Amino acid sequence: MHKALIPLAAAVALLGAGQALQGQGKDHVAYPQGYRSWYHVKTMVLQPGHPLYDSFGGIHHVYANEKARKGLQTGTFDKGAVFVFDLLEAQSEENALTEGARKVLAVMERDDKRFAATGGWGFEAFAQGDPTRRVVTNAKEQCFSCHESQVQTGFVFSRWRP
Ligand code: HEC
Repeated sequence: MHKALIPLAAAVALLGAGQALQGQGKDHVAYPQGYRSWYHVKTMVLQPGHPLYDSFGGIHHVYANEKARKGLQTGTFDKGAVFVFDLLEAQSEENALTEGARKVLAVMERDDKRFAATGGWGFEAFAQGDPTRRVVTNAKEQCFSCHESQVQTGFVFSRWRP
């Protein structure tokens, strides 16, 4: 009985170590486990013709963990605040727009020290929401260059709406 349990325990420990490693490298932003039950900040649809359609076309939902939600209200984001930008295909049918496949899951994680070069936010994106498919190679150019414009609100575009 005990012998049979050991390999399982070892496998679980390894799995745990792998996940921790993925989220803890100096520049690494952790995959946002459980974000679908976080605070829903807002939803927006970018349609063909919008200047950002090529990159961000579709339906996106913005989620905030508890620290990020508080930050939206107070204007100060504590270490560990995380925002998620969940982008899905928009399917237009019978005068209704519905959610299709996930295109990308973009994430911002607050840590003033680790991410000092990009306004205190770590930026990452996961292709199709797959935790193993990280797409950001240069956060400054690919993400912060645009978020930088929101300097008055901590580099965050979303606003608090009760
Ligand atoms: C061309 C400008 C632009 C670029 C580049 C950009 N974003 Fe954004 N991002 C936005 C806008 C605009 C919003 C607000 C969307 C809304 O209001 O629904 C946003 C919102 C977000 C949010 C939700 C929090 C917030 O600020 O409202 C996250 C998370 C996010 N972006 C991550 C990323 C990541 C990661 C990258 C790089 C892969 C990236 N963004 C690149 C413009 C940009």
